[in-house]
Amino acid sequence: MKYAIIGTSWITQAFIDSANTLKDFTLGGVYSRSLSHAVEFASKNNCDYAYDDLTTLAKSGVDAVYIASPNSLHYEQARLFLTHGKHVICEKPAAVWPDQLRELHDLARENGLVFMEAIMMLHQPHLGTVRESLKKLGKIGLARFDFSQYSSRYTAYLGGDLPNIFNPEFAAGCIMDLGIYVVYPALYLFGRPKEIVTRASLLSSGVDAGFTSLFVYEDKQVVLTASKAAESRIGSEILGDRGTMTIGTLFQLSDIGITYLDGKKEPITGGVPRLTLMANEARDFVRYIKRPQESAHELGAAQQLSLDVLETLTEMRRQAGVVFPE
Ligand SMILES: NC(=O)c1ccc[n+]([C@@H]2O[C@H](COP(=O)([O-])OP(=O)(O)OC[C@H]3O[C@@H](n4cnc5c(N)ncnc54)[C@H](OP(=O)(O)O)[C@@H]3O)[C@@H](O)[C@H]2O)c1
Repeated sequence: MKYAIIGTSWITQAFIDSANTLKDFTLGGVYSRSLSHAVEFASKNNCDYAYDDLTTLAKSGVDAVYIASPNSLHYEQARLFLTHGKHVICEKPAAVWPDQLRELHDLARENGLVFMEAIMMLHQPHLGTVRESLKKLGKIGLARFDFSQYSSRYTAYLGGDLPNIFNPEFAAGCIMDLGIYVVYPALYLFGRPKEIVTRASLLSSGVDAGFTSLFVYEDKQVVLTASKAAESRIGSEILGDRGTMTIGTLFQLSDIGITYLDGKKEPITGGVPRLTLMANEARDFVRYIKRPQESAHELGAAQQLSLDVLETLTEMRRQAGVVFPE
């Protein structure tokens, strides 16, 4: 199987390096807005096909595409490739609006194609173990999920630049970027909340630099925080009346352990290298394509979760006052 890539930043290079560890999934096309850059990036990755025109690439002989462009471009680009019969793995968030995502899911289904949002957490072998281990905590009343990572692009923003990630034109900001990584585990582990309260620190560009959300459930509250303007040092935790689960790196669901009330500790899972995390994600994408019937239920559940997350992010943006241009 051959795949193409859109976007030539570090995350695309990480995806290619991870895909290189798989059998039968090779780079067959590179798109960049600049042809000379596409040629250079392709040649660095032993690929002979470079493009500066997306439609030409969509009509080429590749089977699939990995999209890692700024958020606001995902929907149109994914749509273009799906209508040309290509499977799509798209970086998060896969669309800006829930209706766009529904349309992409429908388009993929009608054409017998795979459309998958790239969320590494969902493709790790220890995912089920983490969810099962929640039972050991007893009655869970509270969880705190955080992803606060100072961005070098915040320094650039403060210096007067407008990097894509702080530009509303690209459907950016912290809720759309890091927020997705705290919302995904909340919905995966606990389902959709009955109430959401969100407040954010808005930048003059119009997007948020960080936010706090309270997800209210029948029997628990989950506090979600994320920031691109500060760095957290304490990770995340889920608190039960028998023990507490600590999560070192939430977006990977890694470095997880339980500390019981008597102080006894039980490790659940350690750290996972990024190459392995992304390779697991790419492996599932290939499996969904090669074994559609067997994996239909799994892909359908992932797509439903993706939609639930996007609807949640949309409500959080609304409450936070983050407005994107049409
Ligand atoms: N899964 C993860 O861990 C992870 C990590 C980082 C990012 N991401 C996601 O990956 C996507 C890309 O993020 P990023 O930080 O790499 O974004 P970015 O650097 O702003 O842009 C990514 C690529 O898109 C192209 N691009 C840049 N500005 C553009 C513009 N104005 N119009 C059209 N194309 C443009 C560039 O490629 P060319 O110059 O070659 O055209 C660039 O390499 C986002 O959706 C983000 O959420 C995911």
